[in-house]
Amino acid sequence: MIMKCLFPVAGYGTRFLPATKAQPKEMLPILTKPLIQYGVEEALAAGMNNIAFVTGRGKRAIEDHFDITYELEDQISGTSKEGQLDSIRELIDRCTFSYTRQNHMRGLGDAILTGETLIGDQTFGVILADDLCVGEPDGVMAQMVRVYKQYRCSVVAVEEVPHEAVGSYGIVSGAQIDAQHMRIEGMVEKPSPQDAPTNLAVIGRYILTPDIFEILRNTPPGKNGEVQITDALQTQAKNGKVIAYRFSGQRFDCGSVAGFVAATNYFFNR
Ligand code: G1P
Repeated sequence: MIMKCLFPVAGYGTRFLPATKAQPKEMLPILTKPLIQYGVEEALAAGMNNIAFVTGRGKRAIEDHFDITYELEDQISGTSKEGQLDSIRELIDRCTFSYTRQNHMRGLGDAILTGETLIGDQTFGVILADDLCVGEPDGVMAQMVRVYKQYRCSVVAVEEVPHEAVGSYGIVSGAQIDAQHMRIEGMVEKPSPQDAPTNLAVIGRYILTPDIFEILRNTPPGKNGEVQITDALQTQAKNGKVIAYRFSGQRFDCGSVAGFVAATNYFFNR
């Protein structure tokens, strides 16, 4: 029912320099799989097989990853190494991939608006591949699709973060529906701890209804001079149209070195 998933991947990944000087941060591997592949697998597990990337300069390795590599595949064909390509081959077989470029870094909201040409007039998922999620038992995006089916409006995944960390996230407040669901009334991008209404943080998983594009077009730059998806969602939230969902599972902030190491250890030990 929700067929498309958008991956904003234009960011520079400065926290991982020099590793990200000449390669996209989304291609950094947790064990043998790049971060972006975990994200696409999660989208597909949620039924979204139409994968849309908002890329930027220096991101071509992502396109190559989701394509056949003839010479390599020919070389290892029939050897014991062939099986190592099974996971990516399955994605290539089952998904379509489309790309558009964000020319200027004007924020996550602007990146999502840039993706309108690939999404069109339909509800879609958004995955920020830096946030690596392990859902229990289903993937986090699959859980969110169920929430969407129930409420028919935008959905954001949230988790509690330490109070001193609220300045790194979009923070939500609202009316609790049950232990896992809240109807959002207020959203604020990266507040200082003293201004934060709660410590419930949006993580990099969204289901957005397509009216978000028109709202984004009319959303002025906010925090850090960038167009924020948080501000656009606040416009929907004023009409009661955003649900915060406390997902079942774990999330690793692979945009930070500490989170990246934690994810690596988790996958190595499991
Ligand atoms: C973005 C969003 C923020 C959200 C976060 C989740 O921030 O702007 O609201 O909480 O992703 O990872 P970024 O991490 O890109 O600065």
